[in-house]
Amino acid sequence: MAVETRHLTMSGSVLRFMNQDHLFPVYQFQSLLLATASELAATMIVAERGANIADLKAWEPCCGGGPAAVTLKHLGVGYVQATDISDESIAACRANAAANAVSLDRIAVADLLADSDQDRRYDLICCNPPCAPDVSSNSEPASLLTAVRGGDKGIELTLRLLDQVGPRLTPGGSLVFVAVSTSDIASLRQRLDEDFHGQWRTFPTTPVAAPYRSAEDEASRWLTDGTAAFEPIVWRRKDGWYWRLTWIVEVSNGRLSGTGSGFALCPYGLEVDRDRDLSLMISKFSSDGFWLR
Ligand SMILES: C[S@@+](CC[C@H](N)C(=O)[O-])C[C@H]1O[C@@H](n2cnc3c(N)ncnc32)[C@H](O)[C@@H]1O
Repeated sequence: MAVETRHLTMSGSVLRFMNQDHLFPVYQFQSLLLATASELAATMIVAERGANIADLKAWEPCCGGGPAAVTLKHLGVGYVQATDISDESIAACRANAAANAVSLDRIAVADLLADSDQDRRYDLICCNPPCAPDVSSNSEPASLLTAVRGGDKGIELTLRLLDQVGPRLTPGGSLVFVAVSTSDIASLRQRLDEDFHGQWRTFPTTPVAAPYRSAEDEASRWLTDGTAAFEPIVWRRKDGWYWRLTWIVEVSNGRLSGTGSGFALCPYGLEVDRDRDLSLMISKFSSDGFWLR
């Protein structure tokens, strides 16, 4: 059965996204964070350039139901493209655009950034790539596995995205993408520092903490039993769930200059002090430099 997710945009409108059972749902703690960050990034680029929102070109690869693409077009971005490797996701994106009376400029099947439209450059590329490690159960529908599997460490597609993004951004343009603490954030950070030193940051409104999996679920065991190819960052709360963090990362093609980067593990101050497990986790990671510089 299709379930609706509503999104309050920066301009105060409500957008509606319909989610089919067998597809990745437009999800509050990833999709809508990305959509909001994309709106903020678009307005920042426009403000810095003294341009109009209608002058911008944006692209949501791995679009699924198209949360960022639909939101940006609704904001008034001039050219918006959405692509995905799955025909079913493309159909869902098309339906969501129509349901919100938004006309996307191009919707097409493409493998990540290897799109046939190779000459166009974008001011904003917004992506929620598959970012779960390959430990998820095979009993899920194939379309959901395609949506979540990001290789052994959950960052395979994100690293490919970083490889490919340079030539697709305009000068001063940005890539904004989703990163989760149940993927190999340490390796991702290393890669960002190596290839985009001083040109990346986590969005100041993130990380966001959210329940991830029930601790009772057998499929959650990999989170804590040491079998993962990296160290997932999760903590168990009294509600019986493992919680994790989601960041939005921005990589700029020249606009950011040495502003705060790094993956802050928790901006929630006092609340952390009261949560012993999380405090221990944070002190462990902060000694490894996992804080805003
Ligand atoms: C985590 S979902 C995100 C969907 C949507 N952007 C959102 O935030 O709700 C990942 C999406 O990436 C698509 N995908 C998986 N591998 C891909 C690839 N190699 N190239 C393009 N899209 C891919 C999946 O079909 C799925 O729709």
